[in-house]
Amino acid sequence: MKPKHSCITLFFFISTISLPFLVSSQTCQRTCGQIPLKYPFGSGPGCGDPRFQKYVTCNDQKFTFTTHTGCYPVTNIDYTNHVIYITDPSMSTCACTQPSKGFGLDWDAPFSFHDDNVFTLLDCSINSSPIYKSNNAYNSSAVPFCDKKGASICSFLYSCRAISMLNLPISTCCVYTPVDLGPSFEMDLQKLQCSSYSGFYSFSGQDYNPENWKYGIALKYKFNVYNDYPSSCANCEKSNGACGYSGAYDTFICSCPSGVNTTTDCYFEASFNNAPRLLPLQTEKVLLQSDRCILFSISTTAGRLVHISSILIKYYRIWNS
Ligand SMILES: *[C@@H]1O[C@H](CO)[C@@H](O)[C@H](O)[C@H]1NC(C)=O
Ligand SMILES: *[C@@H]1O[C@H](CO)[C@@H](O)[C@H](O)[C@H]1NC(C)=O
Repeated sequence: MKPKHSCITLFFFISTISLPFLVSSQTCQRTCGQIPLKYPFGSGPGCGDPRFQKYVTCNDQKFTFTTHTGCYPVTNIDYTNHVIYITDPSMSTCACTQPSKGFGLDWDAPFSFHDDNVFTLLDCSINSSPIYKSNNAYNSSAVPFCDKKGASICSFLYSCRAISMLNLPISTCCVYTPVDLGPSFEMDLQKLQCSSYSGFYSFSGQDYNPENWKYGIALKYKFNVYNDYPSSCANCEKSNGACGYSGAYDTFICSCPSGVNTTTDCYFEASFNNAPRLLPLQTEKVLLQSDRCILFSISTTAGRLVHISSILIKYYRIWNS
């Protein structure tokens, strides 16, 4: 069994060099903290859909949504209904009030407000805020109105201790729904002359209990004009890959658990008995092939070493089991 012995030596040589790189070799991650990452979201540049990458990224296992008004932690994603839930740390809730500059979506981002969102502007200046001046006849369409039907929401919010302690007249509270946000999708509190806001997307079935409302912002997203899920990506995800893109034309790639990128899916990694399928996907040349050992030429880059060694480890495990 001499060939096997030299093969093992080589295996150790390669794996020792590249072991530090082996930790999480999949370029595009499939989770960020507790949140599963699926199309169109990705963990970083080259991952997910290029239209979304700019706005949503994973840093230090924290999934963050970015707009021109700030960075917001993503709390959940409903992939079935295409809704992403975020929180705004500067937002007031039943438990805590604080000053805020507001919230806005970038006009060119593939997101819009979910209909379930309710925003309440708090502590708006009755004398100078445009929300109270908007009833003048000639300019009424330029500025939003407070939703008078939402007045009860203000009453409930005022039952929260934190908000009642602000000691403000309830007339300075304005319920503001996304339809009113205007074409710039902007809730600019400085312009509106309000000192803070609160937002929630669910009453949790307890309209009368603002303590249990779900505070945060729900945003809808659309993949593209037809909102269809690319089938190439579905296959990639089914095979434990993560969808990404590369090159000048943002061509689809599937980032596989071993660190290899393919143009299809990662099923080849699960079926190692089917060695010929693997070969076209590798840029490394096969120098020598015996029935017990495959020797790849060792390319100089660390990235390639990672590919080779992780594949060799899998071969080694299968052949020795
Ligand atoms: C795989 O694709 C990702 C995303 O485009 C890229 O960052 C990474 O460098 C690629 N890896 C290899 C080995 O080509
Ligand atoms: C209408 O509103 C806009 C923005 O609020 C303001 O710039 C403009 O001067 C107003 N026009 C009139 C006639 O008041």
